[in-house]
Amino acid sequence: MAHKVVVTREVFDDVLERLRAGATVVDNPSDRPLAPDELAVLAADADALVCALTDRIDESLLARCPKLKVVANIAVGYNNIDLAACTARGVMATNTPGVLDETTADFAWALMLGAARRVTEAERYLREGRWTGWQLKQLLGVDVHHATLGIIGMGRIGQAIARRAQGFSMPVLYCNRSRLDAATERGLNARWVARDELLAAADFVVLMVPYSPATHHLIGAAELARMKPTAVLVNTARGGVVDDRALIEALRQRTIAAAGIDVFEGEPAFDRGFLALDNVVLAPHIASSSTATRRGMAMLAARNALCVLSGERPPNLLNPDAWKS
Ligand code: GLV
Repeated sequence: MAHKVVVTREVFDDVLERLRAGATVVDNPSDRPLAPDELAVLAADADALVCALTDRIDESLLARCPKLKVVANIAVGYNNIDLAACTARGVMATNTPGVLDETTADFAWALMLGAARRVTEAERYLREGRWTGWQLKQLLGVDVHHATLGIIGMGRIGQAIARRAQGFSMPVLYCNRSRLDAATERGLNARWVARDELLAAADFVVLMVPYSPATHHLIGAAELARMKPTAVLVNTARGGVVDDRALIEALRQRTIAAAGIDVFEGEPAFDRGFLALDNVVLAPHIASSSTATRRGMAMLAARNALCVLSGERPPNLLNPDAWKS
């Protein structure tokens, strides 16, 4: 009998076709996020789940899906999946690293430039009919070129962000659990420093760490207080890495100049305090959202799922202990 794959959110047609070539597919064309109980009912007899960061994959779900062999997340981050629970049940979990690096780096730069040069604020000003004429001191921003870029989390995406800094003649400071090799550091004009040094010296601080209990509120009131009053903070990592209340306060008091935020604590809900601020550029978790990249991510998740169903080790296995366990 054909394997059953549940695809929890709307994906591209060619991704569904690829899955249908190897399995019976139940999809969710409405794209409505499924409540935990709905997902459990739909996946009760599923062999594979192709899911998204909006799905919570935990022990209570796994216990209700005894046939499940693989959970293929359409995301590089996987804090929505309880890996230990998957491993304990022999369920493989996979993510989509690599395919979204450049697109996400592009967007981190969009937020940096947008926040520094007040792009969305300027557009609001224009649209609201407030522009009556050119002024020398109109909407003054901060320069990006030749500024110091600080990157917290120097994995593949962090390095893609750093590569772009060369075109802006920016030295790069970075913090990461492990140091890059000397040739890579030289190539990126990057220096490994302690977090406090980075916060104090950087003109732009970009966060690119995964979310975990260890990175919860990595940037809070104390860290924001270390930053320059002219600095810009960009969060393209995960909601919860920044203490949003503390950030709103810092932006309100102008103890930092501006921020660009793509991810929020408790999203899609977010602190409405952001909306009262002009010095923040806000986006709804779209850093990887180009057509090519989102298709690539969904295709890679499908490939991971199909590999497991055909008895092969998936390319992006997160819990190797579940392989043949
Ligand atoms: C997006 O946030 C991802 O983790 O891929």
